[in-house]
Amino acid sequence: MLQIGAGQTILITGAAGGVGSFAVQIAANLGAYVIATASSRNHQFLQEIGADEVIDYNTSDFVQAVQSQHPNGVDAVLTTVGSETKYRSIQTIRDRGRLVWISSEDPAGPPPERGVQRTMFYARADANSLNAITALIDAGKLKPFVEEVLPLEHAREAQQRIASGRVRGKLVLRITEALHSAR
Ligand SMILES: NC(=O)c1ccc[n+]([C@@H]2O[C@H](COP(=O)([O-])OP(=O)(O)OC[C@H]3O[C@@H](n4cnc5c(N)ncnc54)[C@H](OP(=O)(O)O)[C@@H]3O)[C@@H](O)[C@H]2O)c1
Repeated sequence: MLQIGAGQTILITGAAGGVGSFAVQIAANLGAYVIATASSRNHQFLQEIGADEVIDYNTSDFVQAVQSQHPNGVDAVLTTVGSETKYRSIQTIRDRGRLVWISSEDPAGPPPERGVQRTMFYARADANSLNAITALIDAGKLKPFVEEVLPLEHAREAQQRIASGRVRGKLVLRITEALHSAR
């Protein structure tokens, strides 16, 4: 859907999260120029996994930062962050560029802006995409990043941390010990 490849520029917001960190790696492997938004503590991490440019959305306006470096607009945006970030990211896209958002809130989005065409779709896994992703994993070019492994009893804490929106990559719950001790 984002039709990303060599020579294309993509902005990924929420790049340090579970979805964003996969997206950065996939886009970089496809040869795209990757711009990522994240807090400064995550910048080195994002550069190591393939981001060409990182923007701290806490200390600068990410729309202005992208527009100043890419005055013609980026080819595509993937936004994993909802609300204002999602809507404002439209301003960074070039004419006939593409935007995909995955936040669960407000699926219909805002009223269409002038010149913006909207198409709703439901993503479906297809064999070609899954094979391409499998090949990247087998080649060691696509890795999940786990911030912490917690015992199952800490599921509530894990959920609260996820809800805080500050997790880098994934949190993993270990369930085997809980199963053994229940026997
Ligand atoms: N994870 C999944 O498997 C999954 C599956 C399907 C759908 N989703 C949906 O996808 C969305 C993203 O989920 P997620 O798990 O990737 O991550 P998330 O938990 O929503 O976000 C975590 C990351 O977001 C960054 N962040 C928070 N506010 C930001 C902002 N204003 N601008 C830029 N970055 C910001 C944080 O980075 P900093 O600390 O650097 O600020 C943090 O690393 C959610 O709506 C979720 O429901 C997730």
